[in-house]
Amino acid sequence: MNILMLASEAVPLAKTGGLADVVGALPVELARLGHDVRLALPRYAGIESTSVKLTQASKVQIPWRGDRLEVGVETGTLGGGAVPLICIRYDPFFARQGIYGEGGRDYPDNLDRFVLFCRAVMEACKQPGRPPDILHAHDWQAALAVAYLKTLYRNDPAWAGTRALFTIHNIGYQGHFPVSTYDTTGLPWSEYTPERLEYYGQVNLLKGGLVYADLLNTVSPTYAREIQTAEFGYGLEGVLQTRKDRLFGVTNGIDYNVWNPATDPHLPVRYSAGDLSGKRECKRALQAEMKLPVRDVPLVGLVSRLAFQKGIDLIVDILPKLLGLDVQVVALGSGDPSYQTLLAGLSARYPDKLAVRLAFDEPLAHRIEAGADLFLMPSRYEPCGLNQLYSLRYGTVPVVRKTGGLADTVVPYAPDVRSGSAATGFSFEKPEPEVLLSTMFLALRVYRDKDEWAGLMQRGMQQDFSWQRSAKQYVDLYERALAVEV
Ligand code: ADP
Ligand code: GLC
Repeated sequence: MNILMLASEAVPLAKTGGLADVVGALPVELARLGHDVRLALPRYAGIESTSVKLTQASKVQIPWRGDRLEVGVETGTLGGGAVPLICIRYDPFFARQGIYGEGGRDYPDNLDRFVLFCRAVMEACKQPGRPPDILHAHDWQAALAVAYLKTLYRNDPAWAGTRALFTIHNIGYQGHFPVSTYDTTGLPWSEYTPERLEYYGQVNLLKGGLVYADLLNTVSPTYAREIQTAEFGYGLEGVLQTRKDRLFGVTNGIDYNVWNPATDPHLPVRYSAGDLSGKRECKRALQAEMKLPVRDVPLVGLVSRLAFQKGIDLIVDILPKLLGLDVQVVALGSGDPSYQTLLAGLSARYPDKLAVRLAFDEPLAHRIEAGADLFLMPSRYEPCGLNQLYSLRYGTVPVVRKTGGLADTVVPYAPDVRSGSAATGFSFEKPEPEVLLSTMFLALRVYRDKDEWAGLMQRGMQQDFSWQRSAKQYVDLYERALAVEV
């Protein structure tokens, strides 16, 4: 199949969260399965400091507010040459410090930025006589490409027969913009209706992906069900219910070339399920790096965007009680300034127990996955979640809320089932501080039972969430998309 993928981030070029991990790995795996995949991204300034080399390839003209605008197209490859990259260069929009914003604030012209990106991809990726079979767009930033395919490019031979799959990584981020920006999209006003792009008097770009795509998926089966309810749908549950026959769940894989304790270049010592002595070294090194006393004590790790989604409020709430026990906590996060202040304040109060790093620091994220005994992820909702999967592989027992992908990937410990248990972690349902705290108490009790704990670690490390399986599920979806009636 000939697949064109569009997204706003992908490792190693640009990353704010799990979307980048997925988009950096999935196309490479699809190429390994024999498909012809291209990946289109904006060309951010930060790409210059990565290992990816881009070269100026061409320029394209796009219609822009009644005029034409020239944008650059640079090319490179991903996955050792397996996946051609197409990067849209327009420095006034993308040569900035952030990807979506700076200092906790979104850029005010994000609609313009991602309109330009999607429109330029539609122009730059035409291969005369060879329309892609599949246009696969991820999240609201790429959703307009689907809308364009089904409207402005409907009769363009360069796109004849192309079907669209739209992947929802997080329905909490929809790209709402004032109606005054609608003209910039270049779409006719006949598309600005409640059935299409209008949403309570605003433009909703994610909704464009949901209503125009031939098929939809999200990144776990549980989240696919959850987003059809008012609790999780962020106002789009009605739209999703009308498309439920076209909505699927594909659990993310993880890239074991990047997240593997036996080969991870970021770790001071490497280890595997067969020999965990290196993990103990990693723990001591992490304690020293984070200026915590180096001693034998349960070490809890947290690596997260600091956002309400991630249940950071629950963590902040229980920390004083949790730190009353003999434990240490290492937290790495960036995001909401109010959570940053709260965490910094707590670490000042408990300097020997809580170490906080407020940054986006990829190597440290690896060292926390390796050095911690438990990994905390009490998300209020979680489309898939990757950190719990990394934790499993690193023998770091996850404590999660039973929602979305967390429910689909962590088998919860049940105190009454000891031998023969399939448990790989701990989970709780109600997003309340007391419930999280009592789950942590249970986990810490089990931690003292060395055999039980070893079983949890070993089972976790043996789980297989490699991309191969997930990529095959995407191929199935592409095939289905080609077969559905339009
Ligand atoms: P989400 O995409 O919702 O943030 P995921 O669990 O899917 O959640 O993916 C998060 C990814 O971002 C993981 O690769 C994680 O290691 C990384 N990450 C999150 N916060 C940080 C941080 N402060 N520093 C380094 N990596 C981070
Ligand atoms: C989103 C979700 C996260 C998911 C990631 C990759 O950022 O919040 O749960 O793992 O996308 O699909």
